[in-house]
Amino acid sequence: MLADKRILLIIGGGIAAYKALELIRLLRKEGAAVTPVLTKAGAEFVTPLSVSALAGEKVFTQLFDLTDEAEMGHIQLSRVADLLVVAPATADLMAKMAQGRADDLASTLLLATDTPVMVAPAMNVRMWQHPATQRNIATLQGDGVRLVGPDEGEMACGEYGPGRMAEPAAILAAIRGALAAGPLAGRHVLVTSGPTHEPIDPVRYIANRSSGAQGTAIAGALRDLGARVTFVTGPAAVPAPEGVQVVRVETAREMLEAVEAALPAEAAVMAAAVADWRVANESGHKIKKMAGAALPVLEFAENPDILKSVAQSTDRRPRLVVGFAAETDDVLAHAQAKRARKGCDWIVANDVSPATGIMGGAENAVTLITASGVEDWPRLPKDEVARRLAQRIAEALA
Ligand code: C5P
Repeated sequence: MLADKRILLIIGGGIAAYKALELIRLLRKEGAAVTPVLTKAGAEFVTPLSVSALAGEKVFTQLFDLTDEAEMGHIQLSRVADLLVVAPATADLMAKMAQGRADDLASTLLLATDTPVMVAPAMNVRMWQHPATQRNIATLQGDGVRLVGPDEGEMACGEYGPGRMAEPAAILAAIRGALAAGPLAGRHVLVTSGPTHEPIDPVRYIANRSSGAQGTAIAGALRDLGARVTFVTGPAAVPAPEGVQVVRVETAREMLEAVEAALPAEAAVMAAAVADWRVANESGHKIKKMAGAALPVLEFAENPDILKSVAQSTDRRPRLVVGFAAETDDVLAHAQAKRARKGCDWIVANDVSPATGIMGGAENAVTLITASGVEDWPRLPKDEVARRLAQRIAEALA
């Protein structure tokens, strides 16, 4: 898959550096050549010897290494690769990248290159959530840097939350996506997926039967065509695809926020089953069942319409906005009206009556509604629907 590709792998200083060794092994197994660069801090966690032994190449550590300067030069070193990967990417290294600083070999290589760059952040959860880090991440993404992870989970420091470096297999999948020479190579596409959960109190919520299967398949199909995918998902029943940027949310309002943060994008595919209403009188504590007391009454408020706000954005509307219409009756009429009302370019309509088995099932029968007409697609596995849709999106953006 990665034969003839060269990855310049910068290993930053973090406990996750040990996973970089596994990443080198996986890359070599796929046929890629790896030029390893170890930062000073990285060398505190893994040794230059392990790195170069696995890579089968010399490891670069110093900016002012005159032999290397004579042989290759640090500027050139950064340009012979097809992709620069920083794993683990520390908060410090990303701050330097965001500022354009160049005070060691790694930061100089990153500044001196016009080759695509991918970062796999790894740090303590507080450091990740700090506004300064989030600002830097946003800057880097705006500069076209690809992000993989971080994952959520137990951290080496004992805390729990986002900040764990993505697993080597996920980084590998993201690298494949970044190097894919597909028709969507280099294009940023946003996909929403899954249901939303609208809290009633701290333990109860209102949800819907969306599994996230179709949205997940679409994100994977777009990735396979080379797109850089941001995947904003509610609590879905199926795992998120590998090799895409996953943003997990619960409520419709969080989803809107995540979608706005992910723009600009060249296309947006809004497959999420967003709850139309949230509970207006959400309780801050668990509502108690008390003998003889009146039954609780839920009041509802309207959720923001994410699709509409993206489709009708005046300054950041993607070139192609695709909405979904899950209906149980009068599918076509409702879907056509929805396309007009929301201001999106396409609507993918389907019948989610229980008898169809589509909601939560493996197959889908959709109707694609565009400005130029209505197409009934045959009943197909959701993966195949996704592949066809991704192909159409690629054609539309070509
Ligand atoms: O309005 P309705 O839910 O029928 O429209 C479905 C389409 O609108 C889907 O593409 C869904 O992702 C999107 N939607 C949204 N925000 C909402 C409701 C629906 O983005 N609040």
